Parts: sequence; C-alpha cells; structure tokens
Amino acid sequence: MEFYEAVSSRRTVRDFQKKEIEANIVQRIIEAGLQAPTNDHMRQWEFVIVNDKPTRLRIIGKLNQNRTESDAVAAVDSWGFRDDCQREMYIDAIPKQHKMLLNAGCLIIPCFRQKTPLLQPVNLSALNGFASIWCCIENILLAAAAEGIYGVTRIPSISGESELIKETLKLPEGYEIPCYVALGYPTENAKQIEQHRPKAEDRIHVDKW
Ligand SMILES: Cc1cc2nc3c(=O)[nH]c(=O)nc-3n(C[C@H](O)[C@H](O)[C@H](O)COP(=O)(O)O)c2cc1C
Repeated sequence: MEFYEAVSSRRTVRDFQKKEIEANIVQRIIEAGLQAPTNDHMRQWEFVIVNDKPTRLRIIGKLNQNRTESDAVAAVDSWGFRDDCQREMYIDAIPKQHKMLLNAGCLIIPCFRQKTPLLQPVNLSALNGFASIWCCIENILLAAAAEGIYGVTRIPSISGESELIKETLKLPEGYEIPCYVALGYPTENAKQIEQHRPKAEDRIHVDKW
C-alpha cells in the first residue's frame, strides 16, 4: 500500500472478528514500530503480546464491562461535549472498552524505559521516552493499516490499571506502559465514526499565528 493511502486508511476500529493475527505479520508491524524516531537513539522499547485469554481478562479486570450507551451519553453530557462527531465517538467507544481488548486479534502492551517518575516530569525532556514510544505506536498503526489490520489504543487511566498490567505481565522495574494497542480484522459492520479532519490550509500559520 502506498504511504498516503496507509495514512488515510488508518482508522480506529473497536469491533474485531474473532481471528488471530499471524505471528509473522505481528513481527513485521512491530519492526515498523522499531524504526520510529527516538530521543536517546536507544529505542528502549519492548512489546508484550498478550494472546492468553485468562491473562487478558486479568489485565483488563479493572474495566467496567457493563457500561451502556446511556452511561456513555451521561458521561459526554457531564463533560459538556457538543460536537456531534465527538459525542458519537465517545458514545460508541465507552461501552466497548472491555470487549475490544478482549476480542482483539492481537493485544500488544508496548513498554518503554522511564528513569524518572513519569507523572512528575521536571521538564519536557523528562517526557522524551513517552513521546518516543508514541512515535513507535503510530508506525505500528500505519503498518497495521497497510496489512489490512486496524485497531485502537487505550490509555490505562483507571486507578491501579497500569500497576495491574505491570504486575501481571511481570514488567521489570523502570518500564512504563503508554497504552494498550488492540489490533485485529474489523467485523463486517465495524463502526466507523466520521473523522474530524481539519484542512491543513486552515491550520497553517506563516511567520505568525
Ligand atoms: C493518545 C490517544 C488515546 C486514546 N485513548 C483511547 C481510549 O482510551 N479508548 C478508545 O477507545 N480509544 C482511544 N483512542 C482512539 C481515539 O478515540 C481515536 O483515535 C479518535 O477518535 C480519532 O479517530 P480515528 O483514529 O479513527 O481517526 C485514543 C487515541 C489516542 C491517540
């Protein structure tokens, strides 16, 4: 697939067929991730592929599997969201958080080396490892799209969620998790929310804003 085609075809998908992704394809996709730019040249990134269903269930154990569409509507109302597309995205996404991680054809937990407390950065450079792993994740999503595989990232944002993943997967000290990367083959009727896609000409400012 041509580069710009892969960029436009990459979309978030949360509805997956029950079909695993072959190990050699996963390896190829991660290989693309490992070519992303990195702050210190070292690419101190590791990837735990969680295929085992009981392990998946354990690491997502803090997520509420019973969130309904009306819970999601209440949440977006409480956040004061007005944009129709944005509301539709959250209303679709909130009830699917548990299921999408459980059903993904491949669940990747990217890990990066973080020497200082991630949530108490003293300056922007202290976040370089976090920024670099996100470059890696975007390469993974684009490479996956080029393979006809789509997915979603989820931030482990519930209290104790990140710690539970680290403990279950036995991460060594000094590694952090930016997100889950759930990949798979979309179901036939996988929901696609209209993308909010600003025009570059409206967002470019020359010489001053
Ligand atoms: C940093 C980041 C965090 C995200 N967190 C979540 C998440 O927790 N759960 C989820 O379902 N989607 C999550 N997403 C996916 C976004 O909802 C999605 O990228 C956005 O709605 C735009 O849609 P598109 O990817 O199809 O263009 C996240 C994406 C990014 C880049």
